[in-house]
Amino acid sequence: MTTITNIGVIGAGTMGAGIAQVAATAGYHVRLIDTTDKLVQRGIEKVDKGLQRLVDKNAMTTEDRDAARSRITGSIDTQSLSNSELVIEAVIESLDTKRAVFAEVDDAVGETAILASNTSSISITALAARVSNPGRFAGMHFFNPVAVLTLVEVVRGLQTDGATIATIRGVATQLGKTPIVVADMPGFAANRILVPMINEAIFAVADGVASAVDIDEVMKLGASHPMGPLALADLIGLDVCLHIMEVLHQDFGDDKYRPAPLLRQMVAAGTLGRKTGSGFHRYDS
Ligand SMILES: NC(=O)c1ccc[n+]([C@@H]2O[C@H](COP(=O)([O-])OP(=O)(O)OC[C@H]3O[C@@H](n4cnc5c(N)ncnc54)[C@H](O)[C@@H]3O)[C@@H](O)[C@H]2O)c1
Repeated sequence: MTTITNIGVIGAGTMGAGIAQVAATAGYHVRLIDTTDKLVQRGIEKVDKGLQRLVDKNAMTTEDRDAARSRITGSIDTQSLSNSELVIEAVIESLDTKRAVFAEVDDAVGETAILASNTSSISITALAARVSNPGRFAGMHFFNPVAVLTLVEVVRGLQTDGATIATIRGVATQLGKTPIVVADMPGFAANRILVPMINEAIFAVADGVASAVDIDEVMKLGASHPMGPLALADLIGLDVCLHIMEVLHQDFGDDKYRPAPLLRQMVAAGTLGRKTGSGFHRYDS
C-alpha cells in the first residue's frame, strides 16, 4: 500500500472544495487546482466557510480549523502536483475535459502516484485506459455535501490493481468515510438505485398518483426516507438527474431506465430545483 501524505485535488468547485476540506482536516497536505486564480480562490473560500461551519457547531476547535487551513495550498499549475502520491480529479462531468486533465496529471506525478476520479457517470475503465498505468487508477466517488455524507464508492476499473483499491480504501477511512468497493458499471451502485427511484416518483406524479408533496410524504412516512424523492431531485438538480438517467438508459440499452417525460419537460423549462428557485417544490427564500 502506498503511503499518502500529499493529495492533489483538481477542480475547486462544490466537490473539489469539499474533498480538499475533509482531506486537510484529516491531516493530509492538499494542493487544490483549478483553471484560474479566481476559481482556486473561490474554492478555498468554500473550504473556509465549511471549516467555520464546523467551528460554529462546536464540531471543530479554532486551532484545528487553522491547522487544516494551513495544509491547503492552491495553484493553477498541474505540474505543481509532482509530489502528490494521490490525485483526486473533480472537474466538470465531461469525458474530454477529464481525459485532458489526466493526461497532464500523468505527466506531472511520479510513477507510483495513484489517480482517482470523482466522476458520477463516466467509465473509470475508459478514463484509466489513457493513463500510463491503468492499474493505479480508480474511482473515488464522494457524495454531496462531502463534509456530511460518509459514503465513498471506490470504483474498481477493469485494470485497477488490488493495491490501488487498498490504498484508496485506507485514505477514505482516514477521511472519516466508509469506503464501499463497487464495479465499474453505469451509475455504480448508489446512483443506479437512487436516480431510477427518483425517476419513478416523477412518473407517479405525471400519472396523477398523488401530488409531489404527497409522494414525498409517502416515502418519508412509509419507507423512512429522511427526504422525499422529489425534494431530493430538487436538491440534486433536475438536470443532473436527467443526465444520470440518460447515461443509464444509453449504457445499459434498457428501457427500464427511460427518463420520465415530465423530467425532460421540467429541465427544458429551466425549473431545475433548488438552484433555480423551483422544481417539484418552491424555494422562494
Ligand atoms: N455535485 C454533486 O452532487 C456531485 C456528487 C458526486 C460526484 N460529482 C462529480 O464531481 C465532479 C465535479 O462536480 P461539481 O459538482 O464539483 O462541479 P462544479 O461545477 O461545482 O466544479 C467543477 C470545477 O472544475 C473546474 N474545472 C473545469 N475544467 C477544469 C480543468 N481543466 N482543470 C481544473 N479545473 C477545471 C471548474 O472551473 C469548476 O471549479 C463531476 O465529475 C461530478 O459528476 C458531483
